[in-house]
Order: sequence, then C-alpha cells, then structure tokens
Amino acid sequence: MEHLLNQIAAYKQEIEAFVASGAEDVEQFRIKWLGTKGLVKSIMGEMKNVPNDQKKTFGQILNEFKLFTEAKFDQLQSNFAPVANASAATYDFSLPGDPVAVGSRHPLTLVKNEMVSIFKRLGFVVAEGPEIEDDWHNFGAMNLPEDHPARDMQDTFYIKKPEDGNGPTWLLRTHTSSVQARVMEHQKPPIRVICPGRVYRNETISARAHCFFHQVEGLYIDENVSFADLKQTLYFFVQEMFGKEVKVRFRPSYFPFTEPSAEMDISCLICGGKGCNICKHTGWVEILGSGMVHPKVLENFGIDSNKYTGFAFGMGVERITQLKYQVNDLRLYSQNDVRFLKQFTGVV
Ligand code: DAH
Repeated sequence: MEHLLNQIAAYKQEIEAFVASGAEDVEQFRIKWLGTKGLVKSIMGEMKNVPNDQKKTFGQILNEFKLFTEAKFDQLQSNFAPVANASAATYDFSLPGDPVAVGSRHPLTLVKNEMVSIFKRLGFVVAEGPEIEDDWHNFGAMNLPEDHPARDMQDTFYIKKPEDGNGPTWLLRTHTSSVQARVMEHQKPPIRVICPGRVYRNETISARAHCFFHQVEGLYIDENVSFADLKQTLYFFVQEMFGKEVKVRFRPSYFPFTEPSAEMDISCLICGGKGCNICKHTGWVEILGSGMVHPKVLENFGIDSNKYTGFAFGMGVERITQLKYQVNDLRLYSQNDVRFLKQFTGVV
C-alpha cells in the first residue's frame, strides 16, 4: 500500500499549493478533485485492492484526504462566491467614497430665474408664448408696419411662406414682445406679466451677436398706470439685481409698440463707471427698451385706451448675465464647454 500512501501525500501537496485566481479556477478544482470522475473518487476506488486487515486504517486515511480536499474547496469557493446578501459583506468604511458629480444650472437659467423672481415679488406672473410665431403676433399686432426694417429677410428667420398667399406667414419670433400680443388676446386688464423666452435673429455669430438669444419681457396694463410706475418698477429691479449703488438713467428712444419710449442704462459694473470696453468708455451700459404701451397696440386687442394705460419693457438675459458674471463672449453660452459651465456649480 506504499504507493497509495505516496500518491495521497503528493495529492495533498498539490492541493495545498493550489491557488485560484477566479471562480473559474475554483470550478476546475472541483471537477478535477471532487467531480464524479475526479481524483478523490478514483483513489477511493482503490479500497477494493486493500487487504482486509488494512481496510480500517486505510479507510480512515482516505476519508481524511477527502475531507481535506473538501475543506480546501470550501475555502476557495468562499473567496470567490458572489456576496449573497449585503449584510454579510465586509465594508471598509474608512475608504474615501466615490465622488458625486455635481451638476450646475446654466448661467442664463440662473439669471433668468433671478430676474423672474424679482418681478414676481412685485406681483408679476409668468406668461409664455410659442417660439414659432406668425407675422401678426410678432410684428403686426405690435404696431410694426409692413415696411419696418425688422421684418426684413436679413433679420428674421422665416419658416414658411404660404404658397397660395393665404394663411399666416410663419417665422421664428424676433422678440418676446410677441408674448404681449398672446397675453392681450386672452386676458383683459389688469394685466401684469413677465415673459421669459428665447428669440431668434438672422445674425452672423460673433462674440457680440448670435442667431438666438434670450429676453425677458414685462407688461403691465391697468387704469392709471404711468411712466413713473415704469421707472419705479425698473429701478427696483436693477437694485435687487445689482445692488443699491447702481446708477440708472433713461434715454428717449423709439419703438413702434410704445409711446413714449425709453432705453434704460445702468452705470457700468465692470469698470464702476470709469470707462472700459464693455461700456465703450462711456461708463453706461444699455440694458433694456421700454415705454408706455402704444394706444394702437391696446386697441388691436379691444382694450379701451381711454380707460387703460400700460407700460412694457424688454431686456436681454445675455446682457444681464454678462454684467453679473463678466462673460464677454456670447458664444460661450451655447458651446457647452464644461470648463465654462463648471464655474457655476454651487450657484443657485
Ligand atoms: N422688443 C424690443 C427688442 O427686441 C425690446 C422692447 C423694447 C420691448 C421696448 C418692450 C418695449 O416691451 O416696450 O429690441
């Protein structure tokens, strides 16, 4: 029986030295040693050749060898078996966790939200309109005559001209003033709305111009609304947005949908009024157009212009964002460069 004892000793050595590098190796181990055609079974088969007087001792040796092999298998298996339930897993709580990628709002969204929330505090409610608009809501209703240069193919993206000459001319809205028309169509005074949205113009893209940008429009119509109300409202907005030390001035201007009309400038926040590239060395930056709603616009919607008056204003979100965050190239807003966007992480 000498050779069987030697064989078992050799097997034991081999088993002891066995290392598995994955679950597949463990399975190979099982097949080789413990499978139906495995070596444990085949050496057990040798029992029939063992003389009767040695069967007892030899049976013990073989049994011990089988247990030894099974124990090794159990140990290998526990190293690679998937964790059946999480509570059984061992965690190292002192390891640093996986960092959570923190997203950020787009700077234009941040500024638009802030603008809207300031006007909401004055009782304005948000109104929205379509970006694909018809000629009437974008131009006609807003008192822009047929021959107004803003209607020119060069400024406006026209979508579809009706082939038979009937039906509306579709275009991408060139300003959020079209939402004024949409509101007055369905609502009677008092009206107090703020209309944020995207607008389109056929411009060559550069640092200072883009084919789409964003505006926030305001409209307030009631009895006895005056230019003083307009000034006070916009003054409040500027102070809330930029702080109490900002100076404001109104300049007479012209818009077909307001009379009188005014543009509002604020003292340049970049240079503090000393003069820089942003304010073109004047110390002032124009931020919006405004005025008293033209009686013709009111009448277009059946609002009695003898009873009601109103003011309106429109401003560019990109311009306000430029002043707030000193972003001097309009293209940055739509390039989706994470190095730019990441700078607004944590700003709410
Ligand atoms: N719609 C004008 C523009 O896009 C801005 C504007 C000016 C809006 C005066 C108004 C307003 O409501 O009263 O340039």
